[in-house]
Amino acid sequence: MTSGGLELGLSELWQLDPDIVFLNHGSFGASPRAVLDHQTELRAIMESDPVNFIDGQGRELWAEAITRLSGFLNADPNGMAFVANATTGVNTVLSSLDIGIGDEVVVTDTTYQACRNAVDHHSSIKGFSVKVANIPIPLTSKHEAIDAVLSQVGNNTKLALIDTVSSPTGIRMPFEELVEILNGRGVDTLLDAAHGPGLIPLDISRLNAAFVTGNCHKWLCTPKGSAFLHARSDKLHIRPLVISHGATLPERLGPRFRLEFDWTGTVDPTAWMCIPFAIDHLGSLFEGGWDEIISRNHHMALAARSLIIDRVGLQPVCSEEFITSMAAFIIPGSPHHPDPDPLHELLYRAHGIQVPVQGWSNHAARYLRISSHLYNDLDQYRRLSEALIHELG
Ligand SMILES: Cc1ncc(COP(=O)(O)O)c(C=O)c1O
Repeated sequence: MTSGGLELGLSELWQLDPDIVFLNHGSFGASPRAVLDHQTELRAIMESDPVNFIDGQGRELWAEAITRLSGFLNADPNGMAFVANATTGVNTVLSSLDIGIGDEVVVTDTTYQACRNAVDHHSSIKGFSVKVANIPIPLTSKHEAIDAVLSQVGNNTKLALIDTVSSPTGIRMPFEELVEILNGRGVDTLLDAAHGPGLIPLDISRLNAAFVTGNCHKWLCTPKGSAFLHARSDKLHIRPLVISHGATLPERLGPRFRLEFDWTGTVDPTAWMCIPFAIDHLGSLFEGGWDEIISRNHHMALAARSLIIDRVGLQPVCSEEFITSMAAFIIPGSPHHPDPDPLHELLYRAHGIQVPVQGWSNHAARYLRISSHLYNDLDQYRRLSEALIHELG
């Protein structure tokens, strides 16, 4: 199944610049026009009477969004909270957990740098040690990734920060197996599902991770600033990064978790309130709903990956079983990080292709990562292949 966005007219649903070949859904997502229009409508209602909206109708829309997102992810709504982004979710857990000197937190060498920075920051404040698991590249078996993580887990490990899908490599981690093994060893998992909802099937109740944070503004295509943090029922004592009214409100108004996480100061809540609309809008395009979207995007990424391997001869970072709707390749040469990679600049400026090429210092490597969403078409990856042949020779 390779029919893509251009062929089906699906790209018209987005407002992406038609002069740019946009192959980077992974970084910040992209919202369809209808979702953005819905947000504009909600904002108009809010601004017609901000007090009534925030203290009244908005509360219902907020609760509905919590319920719908929880249903979509099969999560317990009592442990579901909204945060602005996955980085905030990770920071929230790290700042709230009672971990300190003598304790260990495990990350991987593919942990998203912003989240790794958060771990290092809290390590310097709280005194816990950070253990880094090295994920072998190219990754060819689940066991290599599982063994790498477990090799860093010891008696003092309190928490492991595990990705659903890694940012620099696009590798789908064997997170279900890892959560189960770690739970068995009494180690809590903080699952970084920044690439989660709308990209891979996620069943949070079944997964049973202590904490899951994830973005809706990536693959679910909601407006930016809509993410969640889910805490398991035995972890509801965690507190938000921002302490506000909820700290002192009486519990007859609701559980402390709800009181604290549902109000962390005045914000524009409309991005979260668009979650139900985004689930329905894209989910109603195909008979198979979101499962079909995930499958279509996955097949497009696989087809694009094969094309690039065959035509350009780039080495992929992993075998096919780790591919979702993103796929990464090794670009010869040394990383330019944190400077922009010259290949990214060339592909964008000379070829009109928006695709990430990033140095990853931990691996002393450069990776190019493609993404596929409904608006993409195989022809766009053919253009990328031609451009890569031209630039890499
Ligand atoms: C694995 C991973 N974690 C966390 C993040 C951070 O997401 P946000 O910037 O929305 O907080 C990203 C962003 O790309 C990511 O890929």
